[in-house]
Amino acid sequence: MNPINHHPQRLLVTGGAGFIGANFAHYWLHHHPEQRVVVLDALTYAGNRSSLDGISDHPGFRFVHGDINHADLVEEVMREERIDTLVHFAAESHVDRSILGPDAFLQTNILGTHSLLKVARRLWLEQRITEHHRFHHVSTDEVYGSLTADDPPFSETTAYAPNSPYSASKAASDHLVRAYHHTYGLQVTTSNCSNNYGPYQFPEKLIPLVLLNILYAKPLPIYGDGSNIRDWLYVDDHVRGIERCIYRGSSGEVYNIGGENEWNNRDIVHLLCDELTALFAAEPTLAERFPDSPARSGEARELIRYVKDRPGHDQRYAIDARKSREVLGYAPAESFASGLRRTIRWYLDHEVWWQAVMDGSYQQWMATQYGVAASS
Ligand code: NAD
Ligand code: DAU
Repeated sequence: MNPINHHPQRLLVTGGAGFIGANFAHYWLHHHPEQRVVVLDALTYAGNRSSLDGISDHPGFRFVHGDINHADLVEEVMREERIDTLVHFAAESHVDRSILGPDAFLQTNILGTHSLLKVARRLWLEQRITEHHRFHHVSTDEVYGSLTADDPPFSETTAYAPNSPYSASKAASDHLVRAYHHTYGLQVTTSNCSNNYGPYQFPEKLIPLVLLNILYAKPLPIYGDGSNIRDWLYVDDHVRGIERCIYRGSSGEVYNIGGENEWNNRDIVHLLCDELTALFAAEPTLAERFPDSPARSGEARELIRYVKDRPGHDQRYAIDARKSREVLGYAPAESFASGLRRTIRWYLDHEVWWQAVMDGSYQQWMATQYGVAASS
């Protein structure tokens, strides 16, 4: 395993009120309580201040409401906090939204990342506000394009072939991060991860969307024939992978993180129907809380609807995580069965969170996308 290459002390976490960023902030203050965690988030539709509730009182925590494109604000916060490590999650992250409106994706994912890089270069390389620094860029396996059933999984040397405006914008940001390392000597690491699931995920993404729709007897939309494959990873395992990259990753290197856990969408939706049915049978109070749910009578699968396919829908993603395993000593801790049960339990126990995030804009999105009102 690589030796420790960087000792983070004071972190700026962009997008820390989103799904993975919030899980990262919770994890970090739990495991590194002596360190400083400053979250910078614009609180778009996908960002929720309440996702940080459990750590808001931690003495090492600070929340800053702001956009990564606002260089003056980023510079002020980084200088004031003497930030030595920037962990960059902030992004527009939903493929379907990028198909309907790509502009915001270019603005945040490309220009926003570049704005952060410029500030980082100024403060860390020109003004030397800290002795050591690291810019960790959180990216996605989608930059590698789509695999056929027989292709080997994506490795760090797979050629980029992004297919959606979302993945194209993430690919562009990866290239900018790389260029700032090669050209200016900025200390960077990048991780490209597969599909995450777990607490605090916005219910526009497949797993929480299906879960909540089963509870409220809403249709379960499966795009195309449901044969598309994703490699699912529990969010804390992604966070652990990023932690390894920050401490043990070598500057300029890219690390793929994944679960080696491929599932097609049809099977995932069936599994969620069956898991909830079993839970309803075991816990009678669930039928009282969700009286319309067909999980009461074992008929959740009847909600499934095969709908028009996503344009340009990538067929298969899979990650070859050999480099992370061998170089960083990384391995996921959660099995899919245990991770999914934890996730379902979290959503059942946090109805207040998801009721609050399903505001007017969410209802509007669901109506545009599926022609149905969301769970409420
Ligand atoms: P998310 O959509 O849940 O959260 C994104 C967060 O970024 C939100 O809190 C939002 O308010 C914030 N944000 C958006 N634009 C901003 C801006 N201009 N300035 C400041 N904050 C802004 O996304 P996520 O699923 O948590 O993904 C986080 C990162 O991980 C993204 O970069 C994404 O590409 C990457 N990623 C996600 C997955 C996945 O499965 N979700 C997998 C691999 C990589
Ligand atoms: O692979 C990593 C990527 O995973 C991240 O970079 C993205 O930010 C993240 O959103 C996710 O992208 P996907 O497009 O794979 O995730 P999503 O949950 O939107 O869809 C998962 C699969 O399920 C995909 O094949 C499309 C399908 N799907 C999705 C929705 C929302 C459906 O069949 N029905 C749906 O309603």
